[in-house]
Amino acid sequence: MQNIEIKPGVYWVGAVDWAVRDFHGYTTQRGTTYNNYLIVDDQTTLVDTVKHDFMDTCLDNIRNIIDPAKIHNVIINHIEPDHASAIGELMSIVPKAKLFMTKKGKDGLERMFDISGWDITLVKTGDELKTGKKTLVFMETPMLHWPDSMMTYVKEDKLLISQDAFGQHLSSAQRFDDEFITCQSMAELEDAVWDYYANILMPFGTLVQRKLKEVQDLGLEIDMIAPDHGVIWRKDPGKVLQMYSDMASDRCDERVVIIYDTMWHSTEKMTQPIVRGIRAEGMDCRVIKLRATPISHAIKEFWRARGCLIGSPTLNNTLFPPVAGFMTSLQGLRPRNRIVSAFGSYGWGGGAVKAIFEYCKSMKLEMVEPGVQVKYVPSTQDEDACFEFGKEFARQTREYHKKF
Ligand code: FEO
Repeated sequence: MQNIEIKPGVYWVGAVDWAVRDFHGYTTQRGTTYNNYLIVDDQTTLVDTVKHDFMDTCLDNIRNIIDPAKIHNVIINHIEPDHASAIGELMSIVPKAKLFMTKKGKDGLERMFDISGWDITLVKTGDELKTGKKTLVFMETPMLHWPDSMMTYVKEDKLLISQDAFGQHLSSAQRFDDEFITCQSMAELEDAVWDYYANILMPFGTLVQRKLKEVQDLGLEIDMIAPDHGVIWRKDPGKVLQMYSDMASDRCDERVVIIYDTMWHSTEKMTQPIVRGIRAEGMDCRVIKLRATPISHAIKEFWRARGCLIGSPTLNNTLFPPVAGFMTSLQGLRPRNRIVSAFGSYGWGGGAVKAIFEYCKSMKLEMVEPGVQVKYVPSTQDEDACFEFGKEFARQTREYHKKF
């Protein structure tokens, strides 16, 4: 195969996983890649491994450049199994390699492997490793995405190897952002960044802001960002930096998304006049039925829009389970600065709309109460009420959006 040299002497040696659709519960409709990088220097250095199933591919890529037995240093930027589960296999090839990782990385790794014979050096922000002509600088990034996480900056190349951050679950034949420069596919690349951030990094907006500032304060010039998933930002690393800065500052589209599910179509029927009401205010609107859509996609659409209307029928005095699953996922992601309301049908006691508001209150989201409830099947009057509800929610979303 053709070597993919991303900077002089720095190679992508990872693997493309075209087939993965379930990434620990996160639906990866576009597959993913496991990126890792080989720095050929006086001390040849591998930054991260790949998911264990793909280690043969990675080793073939390395063999195309050098004998893997010549790897001198191994940097573990992140210990999650999609990057580190092949480390045992690698260490059987280079048992004397020197490993570099954070303290938390070592703490985690020793729960996964017998590391007793490994030569491990713990590193922290600002520590440097000279491999020959190149100087690697480490930067801890705890909780982006796990406590162990760090990034590796190659000084001479102005290259930031950023592990999960700035990545995308996106399998493709292209390795670089500039190969996506066509109208359709750049929109797809941006959407993949939103998707990844929403599902992985949404809870860590404050940390993202702090890290971006730290990069600025350290005066690191960044010419290229090479994440552990998806394409490498070669032409325009500033684009993904700006996207992260915007997302961490809770910027999003002035739009309403309706996320719902339904039992006997009554809650579903309510969405139609609600959409008409939203559109009557000139507001963009998307509609997502949960059982027809992976939760991770619904989470991304929630995160991209300023306003969200959540609809659920009442089942046994509470939420319909697919909606409960969505609310639980959303709560764990700790969204901020979104405006929400609720709607749904019920037969006798009700309870779903109340439960949605309780979830939203616990997340400290801006709420437009009391929402709309319909008994059994929406009447013409109910549909009129839904239309007005959609209009009013669009107006309030527009006002709320002005704050950002
Ligand atoms: Fe791609 Fe947090 O692992």
